[in-house]
Amino acid sequence: LSVDASPHNAQVIPGNMFGIFFEEINHAGAGGLWAELVSNRGFEAGGANTPSNIDPWLIIGDESNIIVATDRSSCFAGNPIALRMEVLCEASGCPSGGVGIYNPGYWGMNIERTKVYRATMYIRSSEAVELTVSLTSSDGLQNLASHTITGDKEDFVEWTKVEFDLESNDRNTNSRLQLTTTKSGIIWFDQVSLMPEDTYMGHGFRKDLASMLANLKPRFLKFPGGNYVMGNYLVNSFRWSETVGPWEERPGHFNDAWAYWTDDGLGFFEFLQLAEDLGACPVWVVNDGASLNEEVPSATIAAFVKDVVNGIEFARGDPQTAWGSVRAAMGHPEPFQLYYVSVGNQECSKYYYKDNYVKFYSAIKASYPDIKIISSCDRSAISPVNPADLYDVHVYTSSGDMFSKSRMFDNTARSGPKAIVSEYAVTGNDAGRGTLIAALAEAAFLIGLERNSDVVEMASCAPLFVNDNDRRWNPDAIVFNSWQHYGCPNYWMLHFFKDSSGGALHPSTIQLSNYDQLVTSAITWNNSQDGNTYLKIKVVNFGSKAVNLNISVTGLETDIRTFGSIKTVLTSGWLRDENSFQQPDKVVPAASPITNAGEQMGVLLDLYSLTSFDLLL
Ligand code: AHR
Repeated sequence: LSVDASPHNAQVIPGNMFGIFFEEINHAGAGGLWAELVSNRGFEAGGANTPSNIDPWLIIGDESNIIVATDRSSCFAGNPIALRMEVLCEASGCPSGGVGIYNPGYWGMNIERTKVYRATMYIRSSEAVELTVSLTSSDGLQNLASHTITGDKEDFVEWTKVEFDLESNDRNTNSRLQLTTTKSGIIWFDQVSLMPEDTYMGHGFRKDLASMLANLKPRFLKFPGGNYVMGNYLVNSFRWSETVGPWEERPGHFNDAWAYWTDDGLGFFEFLQLAEDLGACPVWVVNDGASLNEEVPSATIAAFVKDVVNGIEFARGDPQTAWGSVRAAMGHPEPFQLYYVSVGNQECSKYYYKDNYVKFYSAIKASYPDIKIISSCDRSAISPVNPADLYDVHVYTSSGDMFSKSRMFDNTARSGPKAIVSEYAVTGNDAGRGTLIAALAEAAFLIGLERNSDVVEMASCAPLFVNDNDRRWNPDAIVFNSWQHYGCPNYWMLHFFKDSSGGALHPSTIQLSNYDQLVTSAITWNNSQDGNTYLKIKVVNFGSKAVNLNISVTGLETDIRTFGSIKTVLTSGWLRDENSFQQPDKVVPAASPITNAGEQMGVLLDLYSLTSFDLLL
């Protein structure tokens, strides 16, 4: 392997090259990254008809002592459903512990010892209230924390917001939130929330999962989907303006693309906040008037266009503007750094897409010329009449094909708009639920993107997250449940690329006869934390043979230092190996010193492996 590390022959990799793509799929957000513990907190998930299904809320008691139903008496116009609970048992004697309702969260709430949880709810009753709010085990027998809400007849005649902290005396990963009473009468509930006090940067994101993202040093965050943006039907698509403002007032919506309800606690503002917290550029995928089954004709697309321009004003407008003031009222008077907008998801083949696209493009550029606009069409469709700053590419394929796609952009014309490969993944049998071979094929593909980073500006894998209780798509990079998480091999593979963005790519060539299973790149990058510069040589060995390789580096202006040079390998030796809750570290990177680091070095590449040689300069 020859590496020409001369700065004169280097090519700068775009600063936003490697990022992440978040889609509300697999309960990635609701019941995942968004730390809200109550599922269906506003009782809206059953739809507008009443009485409706209140899933996953359940009743403590039976029809002899409690009647529970929904009605449309909420104080929030945007989410009119409330829960009416009629308790009948005071005179005859309620069961010990009382009757009421409970919410198991998203497949059990993870309640941790000595941690504090902020409970919020809206209550109405024209009778005296004595309500116990408690955190318990899933059978209700272990009490972890409780709080009593009391009031006279007059106290809750109007809808009243009640807020308090619950501090848990023990740990239980499968807990529930109970609202119980022994007092007869009618009481209404709405917008019942339970948030851990300890969230990532205090902004409502589950700390363990957000940290997994931060550790990738993503340069951009593309959100909120995917098919989620479109919906099967427009009525269920992601409407940004209905996800901002006070959380209690948000209608929530049915994510019909992936078949679950979301309360929209994780809304447009929160996505922008997450990007800011991760130090990543937001890339907003807008609904362009299309769902998977419908599309709005160009004659009537204007309202959708205006809505997107309003959304940009929400993100970037100053607090005096109509939408900027909404953002400011949410606690963020400074604009968010929104400079990328993707017009639609992958609708290029739809009848009206191109005509509609131009209207979005013109309107956005007229108000925000510095925004880069991403088209769903490939570069062949882009022209002066159909302009784009970037074009979106989605690649889902087998591991063998993904490996060969490391050359996908080798023959792309070097002028014109650049690609954002915003969704890629190995899928199908060899991908399993996240195999080593899938990660290696994706690594080869990413090395191909690095090598072609003059025509590819950004890349992110998909999907990012899966709640193991609701797998809608396999594989995914990060797997979690209410209390555990692990990275799949492709999550760990991404760590090999986290220093590439903004680095310098150097020419590298491999000469090896009768073995075409190696893909390689070489970059130099500066570590701003320790001030050091590294030459990073990555090699994927996609084959079943270990390989002895001689690495020869020329063109360096400083020596390679042995002490501080590190080799990191991702392998387990068996191509179908996966990580799991039981064995989260089966396929993770292993680092060791390079004792023979130098301009000429002999190295051994394991079979089925990704290796990084980080040479300290
Ligand atoms: O990543 C899963 C889905 O794949 C996305 O929602 C869609 O954009 C693509 O088809």
